[in-house]
Amino acid sequence: MRFTFISGSERAGGNTDMVVDYAAEVVHRLGGETDIISLREFRINPCSPCGDCNIRTTPCAIEDDVPNLLDRMVQADALVYAAPVHGFGLSHLMQIFLERAGVGYLRFDRPLANKLAGVVVTGRRYSHSDVHAQIMNNLLLNRTILVGSGYPVTFTGGAPGDALRDQEGLDALCSMIDRMAEFAQLLGTPSAGGRKALPAPAERNERETSRLRHLVPPTSNLIARAPEANGANVATAQE
Ligand SMILES: Cc1cc2nc3c(=O)[nH]c(=O)nc-3n(C[C@H](O)[C@H](O)[C@H](O)COP(=O)(O)O)c2cc1C
Repeated sequence: MRFTFISGSERAGGNTDMVVDYAAEVVHRLGGETDIISLREFRINPCSPCGDCNIRTTPCAIEDDVPNLLDRMVQADALVYAAPVHGFGLSHLMQIFLERAGVGYLRFDRPLANKLAGVVVTGRRYSHSDVHAQIMNNLLLNRTILVGSGYPVTFTGGAPGDALRDQEGLDALCSMIDRMAEFAQLLGTPSAGGRKALPAPAERNERETSRLRHLVPPTSNLIARAPEANGANVATAQE
């Protein structure tokens, strides 16, 4: 069982680092391995204005450390993204990474699919839920498996060390690691069906039509009963 943590804080030894170190220690005591990626230690260039992400079929041409980081993430059974709140939103390090990793690489064959994933947010007091939701959406897009474990893992407190005094945050973190570890073991067991029973990462992509779309054909009454398209509604409003 290998957990990879991705930390989006630029403050070495700050709350995010402390919480990630704590979580890694929990994983070790459960008998797992860890890899900690501190984004501040790598060259991650922002997306350029080329704007051809939606038509390009080959990986991004910008050269930085993102491909190597993704190689490390692909080795994981479970991924934990940890980021502080900055300006009521995601810290810029994590924001740039999500954009670059996503449009530059992950969108092509979704290599993180079927990995377990979790989110940790640190912040003084404001907008933790917004940051949590943004990372969760990104993890869903990448077809990772989010395991419910109770309350979202958020830490309140601005000064370094505050996070480790947030008992409720630590409880939520432990519950999340616990559930992720349980599911990692379950999915890793072929006799239980497990990871091998799941579709391989490249098998499905959100840009393709879902394999279930034929189950309710366009001729179905459900669809035929739908109201007229927007144009008709606009015309009605003008009458
Ligand atoms: C530029 C900046 C903006 C911040 N904006 C917010 C914010 O909008 N909401 C909040 O609760 N905390 C905010 N904080 C506080 C940090 O989220 C908080 O100190 C957190 O613990 C930092 O984690 P770190 O120690 O890993 O850097 C901000 C901090 C910085 C440096």
